[in-house]
Amino acid sequence: MSDGGTSRASVFERGGARKTAEGLTYLSGFGNEHSSEAVPGALPEGRNSPQRAPLGLYAEQLSGTAFTEPRAHNRRSWLYRIHPSAAHPAFTRTDNGAIRTAPFTETVPDPNRLRWNPRPEPAPGTDFLAGLWTLGGNGDATQRTGMAVHLYHANSSMDRVFSDADGELLIVPERGGLLLHTEFGLLHVEPAHVALIPRGVRFRVELLDASARGYVCENYGAPFHLPDLGPIGANGLANARDFRAPVAAYEDVEGPVEVVNKFCGNLWTATYDHSPLDVVAWHGNHVPYIYDLRRFNVIGTISYDHPDPSIFTVLTSPSDTPGLAGVDFVVFAPRWLVGEDTFRPPYFHRNVMSEYMGLVEGAYDAKAEGFVPGGGSLHNMMSAHGPDRETFDRASAAELKPQKIDDGLAFMFETRWPVTLTAQAAGAEHLQQRYDDVWQSLERHFRPLQ
Ligand SMILES: [Fe+2]
Repeated sequence: MSDGGTSRASVFERGGARKTAEGLTYLSGFGNEHSSEAVPGALPEGRNSPQRAPLGLYAEQLSGTAFTEPRAHNRRSWLYRIHPSAAHPAFTRTDNGAIRTAPFTETVPDPNRLRWNPRPEPAPGTDFLAGLWTLGGNGDATQRTGMAVHLYHANSSMDRVFSDADGELLIVPERGGLLLHTEFGLLHVEPAHVALIPRGVRFRVELLDASARGYVCENYGAPFHLPDLGPIGANGLANARDFRAPVAAYEDVEGPVEVVNKFCGNLWTATYDHSPLDVVAWHGNHVPYIYDLRRFNVIGTISYDHPDPSIFTVLTSPSDTPGLAGVDFVVFAPRWLVGEDTFRPPYFHRNVMSEYMGLVEGAYDAKAEGFVPGGGSLHNMMSAHGPDRETFDRASAAELKPQKIDDGLAFMFETRWPVTLTAQAAGAEHLQQRYDDVWQSLERHFRPLQ
């Protein structure tokens, strides 16, 4: 169905316009060899690249890892599309807006504990891409190492299509639902869920509410995968079956569509004469997905001591050193605290890894105040941090009966290298000026002659 580009058509609109996420169906499982076709017979049988692909479609492989990476890490998908991706005009540079990319050199790495309030409201007409604002990061996008922390705040749906050659995008909504139109189909994501757009996959973001905001981890390194479970066993933490990939859905639009490509830190734009979201069928494991954080199977002590927070890892991007992640995505989900003779909130610590924390809803059990949904904190490599005065006093005196933590959902992007701030984050008006004070008032209790 062609409409001259004045409005978008998709298979979903043929049976009546769909502007909500109701009734979407998904494929289940993490890292699976999924396959899906929006039109029966669109997917070739028994081979990837037949002499003539079915229904007059073009076959294309999209590689998320090198061809020769070990099978367990290899990510690629085959797409069967109306127009070949190669059919596009030259890209030209466009304004990067508030997006910055590693290497981050605008400021020197800062050893201080830092915390931000939520970002201010954006101007009307700000879409997801225009509303992306980079806080900082590490590594080097051209070397495919490291990560960036972004926040987004949008009040308009995207008309244009975006893809990121520099890394995969882990989207953590804090406010407002999103309908992600991807080359692979539609994904609905809302606060307490996350979505992942793999490197190079084109998508646009439709807002399901008047505005939307949240966090994005741009992972330049190896694609996220599920952490090994070791003695935990075959189940637990984020279970593979709870990750959901889209079913094939396509736009058949013959008309001008702006496509923005993030490449080695810069945005490049081209106006296609068709929508590149025109994949009628696909198969493979380099696919976007969503995950409901409430399904995280939280594992903790049933005897004493607070486990290291690595026990809360949802996804990890491995490095060449076993156990050392380029970045981990960690969630502090509702859970019971039952430890005996145990200081139950997260302990004081200094960590060789660097921690950016955000809050999706409620409160975090180590911070009584000042850490609010939409805000965030950065505790860089070796910076000393932990519970604030109020939390310490309360937890030190609390009666240690079983306690349910169910009033908050915090998360962490934990990364192997210090996070260097962008100039806009270091100089932001919403950067809190007195964050150190939450620990300054911790009293001396030492009594050597007790
Ligand atoms: Fe920490």
